Amino acid sequence: MRIGILGAGNMAAALGAKWVGAGHDVLIGARSAERAAALAERIGARAGTFAEAAGHGEAVLVAVGHAAVGEVVPPLAPSLAGKVLLDCSNPIVPGPGGLMLTTDGGPAAAAALAAAAPGAHVVKAFHLGAAEVWAGPHADGLGVPLCGDDPTALAAAHTLVADIGSVPLPVGGLDRAGYLEATAAIVIGMWFAGQDPRTMLPLPENAHG
Ligand SMILES: NC(=O)c1ccc[n+]([C@@H]2O[C@H](COP(=O)([O-])OP(=O)(O)OC[C@H]3O[C@@H](n4cnc5c(N)ncnc54)[C@H](OP(=O)(O)O)[C@@H]3O)[C@@H](O)[C@H]2O)c1
Repeated sequence: MRIGILGAGNMAAALGAKWVGAGHDVLIGARSAERAAALAERIGARAGTFAEAAGHGEAVLVAVGHAAVGEVVPPLAPSLAGKVLLDCSNPIVPGPGGLMLTTDGGPAAAAALAAAAPGAHVVKAFHLGAAEVWAGPHADGLGVPLCGDDPTALAAAHTLVADIGSVPLPVGGLDRAGYLEATAAIVIGMWFAGQDPRTMLPLPENAHG
C-alpha cells in the first residue's frame, strides 16, 4: 500500500519503520525537509512535504498532534478526499486530577480531523500504545482498538494493524472515537501511576461472572 505520513516524530518513526518492513511504500512528509529526510533515510522510506505525503498515500497517518491538525490538514483536504486518514492522536494533557481531554465539551479529535478533511475516511487507531511499543516487539499480538465509518477504510486499517503484527479490535463507528480517546486518558494515567490496567479486565469468558 502507498502510505503517506504527516509528521516526522516518534509515531511516524515507529509505525513508518514497521510499515516499510512489511513492504509498504512510505513517504514521510514534514514541515522540516531535513527532519523528513533524516527519518526517511533511517527507516528506508521516501521524504517530502506534507502535500507530497498526502498526495502519495492511499492511507495517510496524521502524526503531527491534535493541536496542529487545524493548521496542517485543511490545505491538504482536496488530496485527502476518498483516502484512509488514520488518526493516532491523544488529545490529553496533565490536569489537577490526572490526565484530561483537551477536547472536553467539544468534538473528539477524530471528529475534528474529519471536519478538517471532508471526504477523507477517518479511522482512529494506534493511539493507545506508546511509540516505543509500536517500534518494538511488544506490538506483536497487541490488540489495537479502532473505529471508523467506511468499510473499505476500516479494511485497510485492519491490514496496516496486522502488518505490524498487532490485532485489530473494531469497536464501532467514528462516533465512538471520543470514548477511545477518553479510554486513553484513563489507561495512560494508570500506566504513569504504575498501575496495570489489564488487571481491571477479566477474561471474556469471565466477564459476566
Ligand atoms: N509518542 C507516543 O508515544 C504517542 C503514542 C500514541 C499516540 N501519539 C499521538 O501521535 C501524534 C504524534 O505524536 P509524536 O509523539 O509522534 O509527536 P512528535 O514526536 O512530537 O512529532 C510531532 C511531529 O509533528 C510536527 N508538528 C508539530 N506541530 C506542528 C505544526 N504546528 N505544524 C507542522 N508540523 C508540526 C513535528 O514537526 P517538528 O519536528 O518540526 O516540530 C513532528 O514532525 C500525537 O497526536 C500524539 O498524541 C503519540
